[in-house]
Amino acid sequence: MQIADLRKEYTFGQLSEDQVAASPFEQFKKWLQEAIDSQLPEPTAMHLATVNNQGRPAGRIVLLKHIDTGFVFFTNYQSRKADELNANPLAALTFYWVELERQVRIEGKVEKTEPHLSDEYFNSRPLLSRLGAIASPQSRPLPDRKVLEERIQELQVAYSEKDPPRPAYWGGYRLIPDYFEFWQGRLSRLHDRIVYQLIAPEEWKIYRLAP
Ligand SMILES: Cc1cc2nc3c(=O)[nH]c(=O)nc-3n(C[C@H](O)[C@H](O)[C@H](O)COP(=O)(O)O)c2cc1C
Repeated sequence: MQIADLRKEYTFGQLSEDQVAASPFEQFKKWLQEAIDSQLPEPTAMHLATVNNQGRPAGRIVLLKHIDTGFVFFTNYQSRKADELNANPLAALTFYWVELERQVRIEGKVEKTEPHLSDEYFNSRPLLSRLGAIASPQSRPLPDRKVLEERIQELQVAYSEKDPPRPAYWGGYRLIPDYFEFWQGRLSRLHDRIVYQLIAPEEWKIYRLAP
């Protein structure tokens, strides 16, 4: 089997300029709801691309947790992504909903969320996830796994009777988009690509790109 021979035709749907919502946020929410309703695994998983101060890109998956004026995810504020966002707040998100043959690309500027939003989400997480966030110096070298497990055990004792507070090094980021592209796979690679580009506050120019 040659990997070049793996081939799939996309026939699930289509997308046109006159059919999309006027707001890209509404269009996104519609597609996300369809991904959730279709019971896709991890419909909120998104690829986050950042670029460091040397122009070197890096990518990883994070989970979308909230949509307001932007797309909110939570992480460690001392991680590699945090360092990169600190140096360069421009970033890109990509969703891929395989079974719906859909991709959404979003670009914009990232800011930290308000502390109360981070607290609210932190406190809603299962205890072990909260302890994990406290224990893990995300993206730093670890001598071995045991160090982390011992740290969790210590924290379980320390917080057996009270809730752990959110550490200052953990919280949310919000990507505020100025560009969206909605991609729907079509037959023979003639896919539909509809862009929303922010041209003035709350004014989106909608146009089609060649596949
Ligand atoms: C499905 C999936 C969901 C993930 N969700 C998150 C998340 O919401 N926040 C997070 O910090 N890392 C999440 N990760 C781990 C990241 O991909 C990554 O390993 C971690 O954030 C460190 O990235 P960095 O070194 O670029 O900072 C997730 C990974 C996967 C595969």
